Formats: sequence, C-alpha cells, structure tokens
Amino acid sequence: LPTHYTLPSGDKIPAVALGVWKAGPGEVGPAVKAALNAGYRHIDGAWIYGNELEVGEAIKASGVPREEIWITSKLWNTFHAPKDVEPVLDQSLERLGTKYLDLYLMHWPVAFKNNGKNNDVDFELTENPYTTWKKLEEMVEKGKVRNIGISNFNIRRIKNLTANPLKIMPAVNQVELSYWNPQPELLKWSKENGLLLEAYSPLGSDGKVKESLQIPEVQAVAKELGITPAQAYISWHVQRGTVVLPKSVTPSRIEENLKVVTLPDSAFELLENAAASHEPVRSVDPSKSWGVDIWK
Ligand code: A2P
Repeated sequence: LPTHYTLPSGDKIPAVALGVWKAGPGEVGPAVKAALNAGYRHIDGAWIYGNELEVGEAIKASGVPREEIWITSKLWNTFHAPKDVEPVLDQSLERLGTKYLDLYLMHWPVAFKNNGKNNDVDFELTENPYTTWKKLEEMVEKGKVRNIGISNFNIRRIKNLTANPLKIMPAVNQVELSYWNPQPELLKWSKENGLLLEAYSPLGSDGKVKESLQIPEVQAVAKELGITPAQAYISWHVQRGTVVLPKSVTPSRIEENLKVVTLPDSAFELLENAAASHEPVRSVDPSKSWGVDIWK
C-alpha cells in the first residue's frame, strides 16, 4: 500500500493522518502526542475545530521536527472574502506554532457573510469560489502554505472552480468517504482528473462506528487477515487510492489505525461491493441548517 501520495507540487503527503475534528480540550493534545509517538506524520485539522492551539503545543512538545510533519488546516466559510483570508490563516499559523502549512483547504464550497450573524450564506461568493481561490494562490506565493485544496466539493462545484484560469490546481478534495457513503463515481472521476481524495469520517463517523465495525464482510476480512475491523476499513481506503483521516483520542486505537495492510483482491472487492450495495447515507450534511443545497 502506498505510504504517501505525490501531489502536483511534488510534495509527498502521508496516506494516513490523525483527524482531530471533535477531539476536545485536554484530549486533543495527548492524542497528537500519541500519534506522533506511534509514527504518524500527518495531522488533519481546521480553524473551526477550535483546537489548533493545543494541537500546536503538542506538536512542539513531541520533539518531532516541524518539517517532518504534514499539517493541514482549513479556511472557514466566514472568511472567503479576499480581505479575510490572510488574517484568519495567520491566526491558524500562530496557534499551530508554525510559519507554513503543508496544505490549506477551502473547508466548504459555501461562503458566509462576515457580518456577525450566524451562517448567513453569501450566495454570490459561494457560486464564485475563484475569488477566494486567487487569494489562496497568493498565500502559496507568499510561502505561508505549500499546497491548496478544497473540501466537500461535488463535481459540478469543482468544474465551476476549475473553469477559471487557475495558477494552481486544487491538490486534494477532502470529502466524506465510508462504508455508508463510499462515493464510487466521485472517486472514479477524481482519479481520471488527477485529483486526490481525502476520506473524512472513514469509519462511519461517531454514531455509526460501532455498527460499521460489526458489518459481516468487514468482520470476515479482519478475521481472514488477522487484523481488526478498523484496520480492514482503513486499509480499504488506502487501497482505493485516497488519503484516510481516522479520528481517535484513544492511544491504543491511534496505534491500531496506522497499521494498514494490502488486502487480497477478493477481500478488497468484498468490501467495495458491500459498500456499494446499499443506498448511500451521508453523515455530515449541514445543507439544511445553512439553507443551501451543498451537493447541488
Ligand atoms: P475515540 O476518539 O473515542 O477513540 P471517524 O474517523 O469515522 O469519524 O470515527 C471516529 C470515531 O471512531 C471516534 O468516536 C473514535 O473514538 C472511534 N474510533 C477511532 N478508531 C477506532 C478504532 N480503531 N476502533 C474503534 N473505534 C474507533
């Protein structure tokens, strides 16, 4: 299995990351330290997670040199206006205690007005992500970020962005990918178009993890290979050709989740077919609460 993927910039991104969404105060720091100790070199975070200060302190305390670690953060929806991008990026850099990010993503294809109101969608800016993208390109030119990408973009929204004269193409698209929502069409299209996918909620996200680990096909593959059900899932993601971002704050699970193995074709196909053989269910969908159909 690939340990890294090479991005258009030539940078190599580690295939497995520690995800820190929902890792709370007092637990995220120890989780990052446990991960770096276990051999992780990729931390996937975001400004909106509210834990960048603790993540940054843990990275520093780990003693692992900054340049050995891949750090991703994400631009929140409220800051898509060009004048707002650099200040909020600077905040992430300061909290993380670093001069540069390896990867900075547009967190959602949705812009909010920065007017103090909650989730007040700016429909015009939402349909014109190039306005924001140009500023992200400038952040690369300034050396504050090494690679830029998108998150939660469907194919129409990707094409809407890339129809513009981009200087830098999106390096990745981070989306929900799991047994419940495997998105084979998006994966195929992304491969054909040279866009790497990153899998968030790879175990099925909070409420569904327990159920995910009990799926008979997953249990069968785990048993056959002498690995755990979580390792079967995470291996399946990497074998599909995506970066995978399992979240855990439990040291034993953090260690477990880094140990991926190549699945025999039969095992891979068993999981792929099982995932594709039910109606897809999306776990993360703020469309209703934001009043915008994100997947349209
Ligand atoms: P915890 O953080 O308490 O260890 P996802 O990445 O799909 O969103 O899943 C995250 C959830 O899955 C968290 O609740 C996490 O619990 C749990 N989890 C992570 N790794 C494992 C594992 N190897 N075995 C069981 N549960 C896990």
